[in-house]
Amino acid sequence: MIRTSSKVVATCVVATFLWVSAAMAGEVEVLHWWTSGGEAAAVGVLKDMLKKEGHDWKDFAVSGGAGANAMTALKSRAVSGNPPTAAQVKGPQIQQWAEMGVLANLDDVAKANNWDKLVPPQVAKIMKYDGHWVAVPVNVHKINWMWCNPEVFRKAKAKIPTTWDEFVVSSDKIKKAGFIPVAFGGQNWQEATAFESIVVGVGGVDFYVNTLVKADPKAIDSDTMVKAFETLRTVKKYTDKNAPGRDWNLATSMVIKGQAAMQFMGDWAKGEFTAAGQSPGVDYVAVPVPGTSNSYLFNVDSFIMFKVKDKAAQEAQKTMARLILSPEFQTVFNLNKGSIPVRFGIDRTKFDDVAHRSMSEFEATASDGSLQPSMAHEMAVYPAVRGAMFDVITNFYNSDMSAKEAAKKLAAAVKEAETE
Ligand code: BGC
Repeated sequence: MIRTSSKVVATCVVATFLWVSAAMAGEVEVLHWWTSGGEAAAVGVLKDMLKKEGHDWKDFAVSGGAGANAMTALKSRAVSGNPPTAAQVKGPQIQQWAEMGVLANLDDVAKANNWDKLVPPQVAKIMKYDGHWVAVPVNVHKINWMWCNPEVFRKAKAKIPTTWDEFVVSSDKIKKAGFIPVAFGGQNWQEATAFESIVVGVGGVDFYVNTLVKADPKAIDSDTMVKAFETLRTVKKYTDKNAPGRDWNLATSMVIKGQAAMQFMGDWAKGEFTAAGQSPGVDYVAVPVPGTSNSYLFNVDSFIMFKVKDKAAQEAQKTMARLILSPEFQTVFNLNKGSIPVRFGIDRTKFDDVAHRSMSEFEATASDGSLQPSMAHEMAVYPAVRGAMFDVITNFYNSDMSAKEAAKKLAAAVKEAETE
């Protein structure tokens, strides 16, 4: 008797639960630019987890490395009064969207899930506007990596370089042996990615901060900046003639296939090696860009949520926000993406040596001040200043402008962008 009635109660509870979750099943339309092999595998984890919770994912993927195309698409949708419900937006741009008053406040999810304790303060600061959570951090990418094919180095009898002088010696040997020394994609953000690592490698952390974070024209118009531009030109010398316009993941695949020896790229490149079934220390080697072993240029991906009226859609947004910082998502997503978890308390054992190195360096550099935001990946300066920097870097890279002139132009462009 008692058994039967508890069965009935249980059935009713399940039925009620199903009804409630079906009633609250909402949809999130998610704008992102994760379309390469590794990126798609990573974002697929979020889609599946959201679906398991009974919500729908409407994909709004806009391809194009570093997200310039995605940001253009986002602006045009927002201008027409129809933004997606969630969008991959980073750094100072989060503040700009929040200032417009269009972002949902995520404080209740943050409170219920203890984000203030779980997210490092340097990251939380970027995600909050006026003390309120308006964005969810996803991961931490390190920029100043150099991805190497050890077999190519062996065949060319060359050493994996740790200094720029060694880079020249090794690149000459690699070229002579019939390989492409540097796999490169000539797109402005890829040039800027290599350049910012060079700036910190050539000038050190303080110089990087003064020039590419504080954008101080005096520091920019200097001999050290001239040296940085000259080094960028040296790198270009070792790229192949098909580099212009090449997507970053195609450049990574040249290293994977053993056509090229190295690539300067953030650790989303690791996602490509993983997707190709390759293992670090065996099939590929990840080392710091020459001269940058004591610095960490970071890049945190994040999502903002736009205000919506529909209750079910709000529920879906909150679920997505909660899932992103859950241990399961942080583990599986980052294993695929090549980045490291953005929150404390994640078991490290599933991660490989490259991730362990990044995790240890992230902690060490956070306490000694050499953890710095990436300019190229939108963490350091406002879009207008970043755009001005990109223009000069790309004009220099694609012309015979002298390094001295480039340093002067960069200083002038930054000054102008800041007064705009
Ligand atoms: C993003 C990464 C992405 C990369 C290439 C970076 O700006 O932070 O998540 O994989 O661009 O598109």
